[in-house]
Amino acid sequence: MRDGFGREITYLRMSVTELCNLRCRYCMPAEGVCKRRHEEMLTQEEMLRAVGVAATLGMHKLRITGGEPLVKKNILAICEGAAMTPGIEEICLTTNGALLPRLAKPLKAAGVNRLNISLDTLDADRYAWMTRVGSLDDALKGIEAALEAGFARVKINAVLIGGFNDDEIRPLARLSERWPVDVRFIELMPMAEVAAFGPEAFIPCGRVVEALPELEPIAESDGVARLYRLPGGQGSIGLISPLSAHFCGRCNRLRLTADGRVKPCLHSPREYPLKGLDAEGMRRQFLAACTAKPERHPLLSYESRSGANRSMNRIGG
Ligand code: 5AD
Ligand code: SF4
Repeated sequence: MRDGFGREITYLRMSVTELCNLRCRYCMPAEGVCKRRHEEMLTQEEMLRAVGVAATLGMHKLRITGGEPLVKKNILAICEGAAMTPGIEEICLTTNGALLPRLAKPLKAAGVNRLNISLDTLDADRYAWMTRVGSLDDALKGIEAALEAGFARVKINAVLIGGFNDDEIRPLARLSERWPVDVRFIELMPMAEVAAFGPEAFIPCGRVVEALPELEPIAESDGVARLYRLPGGQGSIGLISPLSAHFCGRCNRLRLTADGRVKPCLHSPREYPLKGLDAEGMRRQFLAACTAKPERHPLLSYESRSGANRSMNRIGG
């Protein structure tokens, strides 16, 4: 399936819940999330129908997100169903890691291929502050559980936040020496919840290269990240720069929210509902969303916030 600008859409990011066991300050609204009515959300059957339709349209890669996907009671059944869907070649899951000690092995058995684990700091107090309720120790145990379960190419996602973790670039990058993991630094995106952060919080990923002059560029690129390696590192270091470097030209994705809306772009308020539709109805909505994909999102900055009409936990991180 190609959009109006010739981009091949091969990647679906599906959020399975808006709920989370953490409350990260850049993701969740301060007042927390109110649990939505069950009838408003996609059922497991509808999610799997949507994945099946997406696969027939050429979306062969699936990412499962949230909220925190591992708080969803039927997460293993959803992953299993998605893994058995003809045309789905790779299933990745994004998690804060806290529940991985219990779930890493079952997720692997259910057919999940890869895990991205969010970790913005290695300081226990900072972790507790940013996540409002989380424990660094749980996240680290989660990473270890993922490796023990045999997941390869585990990614650690760190959102770079000036005044919070910009003095931890080296220790975070060195996780790629300690473990066979890829570390990704991500620029903080100015979504609505980020209003409490000042302009100094928004720092470009170029800061990582300044802090780590020994980084060696790797020619290969994986989608949206620019890749490097620490000499002697087991995994790569990647920079994801939604602000300082537009990657809209290479965008290959659609998003599906837990309440069943297909979003043509993370930063667009446009949504195409799937709730209650049969496969043919869903197919039409996916095609409409694909046609509506904008060429690029407006430049984002501290002054110019995202046009998304939802907080990240309600879109899918
Ligand atoms: N900017 C950048 N990344 C964000 N995430 C959530 N909110 C933001 C934001 N404002 C991403 C983080 C986290 C994942 C769940 O969502 O990468 O790891
Ligand atoms: Fe939960 Fe991830 Fe949002 Fe943090 S960033 S509140 S872990 S969904």
